[in-house]
Amino acid sequence: MKKIIIAIDGHSSCGKSTMAKDLARKIGYTYIDSGAMYRVITLYCIENNLFSGNELNLDVLRKEIGNIRITFRKNDATGHSDAFLNDRNVEAQIRSMAVAEKVSFTAAVDFVREALVGQQQAMGREKGIVMDGRDIGTVVFPGAELKIFVTASPEIRAQRRLDELIAKGEKANFDDVLRNIEKRDYIDSTRKDGPLRKADDALLLDNSTMTVDEQNQWLNQRFREKLKN
Ligand code: CDP
Repeated sequence: MKKIIIAIDGHSSCGKSTMAKDLARKIGYTYIDSGAMYRVITLYCIENNLFSGNELNLDVLRKEIGNIRITFRKNDATGHSDAFLNDRNVEAQIRSMAVAEKVSFTAAVDFVREALVGQQQAMGREKGIVMDGRDIGTVVFPGAELKIFVTASPEIRAQRRLDELIAKGEKANFDDVLRNIEKRDYIDSTRKDGPLRKADDALLLDNSTMTVDEQNQWLNQRFREKLKN
């Protein structure tokens, strides 16, 4: 059967990765979380003191970026892929609020985007891939056969992210999470390179009132329809 590229973009914490992972598992495609790649670079910058407030030391990062190796490896215990930074498993660290607070600043840097977009395009060369992010349907794979743009109300997204953080044992409160989501939406949508926007040919999904099962089924149906055409 012919393989396609599925691009899932949308706002922060709207459940993109949940639906993308579920579809990829069901149809035997590779799932790539492009946001995890921006989070790994951000973790590197935090650990190496490249941030002063929200300002990044761009001269040092430009020199170092070639030495930051991002890989994904399957975790047999969870069945999902974990992100690695230079062979160190950093999956837990990159999901922290500390990284969430800084990631949109790293993701707005032109040479960071250029490096990661190149790696993402290489991952899709063989097709059979589901990738989620902000610019997948517009910049990374403008020719993707199936494009989805997902959103939900900021309050619902904040509650979903808070539940996720608390389940992982992180201390977080609703107001901080909501503020972070709104700030990232703003920075992601207004930056010059690869801003968050719906591709003209993307299907819009507002999943504010949908259960996880309902959104997964919705995506599955869109995939089946696409294969028929
Ligand atoms: O899971 P969540 O919605 O919180 O975000 P994510 O997908 O992990 O992405 C984290 C951040 O990386 C976003 O807020 C963006 O600033 C950036 N990002 C991006 O600029 N381009 C992408 N393709 C993916 C993520």
